[in-house]
Amino acid sequence: MELTTERVYWMRVRKIKNLEQKIKAYDHLLLKNPGTIGQHFDQKSLELEIGFGKGDFLLEMARRHPERNFLGIERSSAFALKAMREVGDLDNIRFMTGNVQNLLPLMEDNLFSGLYLNFSDPWPKPRHYKRRLTYRQLLLDYDRILKPGSLVQIKTDSKTLFAFTLEELFALKKQAFDVTLDLHGDARWKENIPTIYEEKFSAQGKSILGLRYRSE
Ligand SMILES: C[S@@+](CC[C@H](N)C(=O)[O-])C[C@H]1O[C@@H](n2cnc3c(N)ncnc32)[C@H](O)[C@@H]1O
Repeated sequence: MELTTERVYWMRVRKIKNLEQKIKAYDHLLLKNPGTIGQHFDQKSLELEIGFGKGDFLLEMARRHPERNFLGIERSSAFALKAMREVGDLDNIRFMTGNVQNLLPLMEDNLFSGLYLNFSDPWPKPRHYKRRLTYRQLLLDYDRILKPGSLVQIKTDSKTLFAFTLEELFALKKQAFDVTLDLHGDARWKENIPTIYEEKFSAQGKSILGLRYRSE
């Protein structure tokens, strides 16, 4: 299913003066080498969010789960700076900037125990399908960096991205579960932590769609 009438997401971030210099103050939180991620964490399990935006979801996960570690990857350095400014005393969260499609091939195998994709850009034009973060080659890459049986959780308001994701999972013979077209009314998602985009879309009366699957 392709719904080309869907808009492309655009998250506004004001231009930040001296961004590079400001980011330097958070060097201890920002990992640079995708090949050595594992070295920066202790033995606790490590979970990943890709495209964390301003970081609210990941920061809240880190607060609720001190027994786990968290890594966020985000293309926008300005958003990463915003998120890092909110870390405070948390010692179980780190960040990396860049396009995940370039970083993934460099990452170690079996690193993560969970993956969150929250309101990933839907890339509604059919010709852009390879940029969607649930394109099947990426799903295979996720399998490699995730320990087998890890939980992958996907939320979106985009019917295009949702249908595409189900098709890609089906093509790889992966079983989605907790599939919902009304995440906020679904008891299986009652532990949900809403993201900024989720709150915005929900306030506009849009349904939030969600699914989970396990890595192989
Ligand atoms: C629509 S926003 C959603 C932000 C946040 N997850 C939320 O739900 O509020 C999508 C985010 O993913 C980031 N992003 C998109 N493609 C990416 C990629 N290939 N690698 C890393 N980050 C990406 C964008 O910069 C943007 O911050």
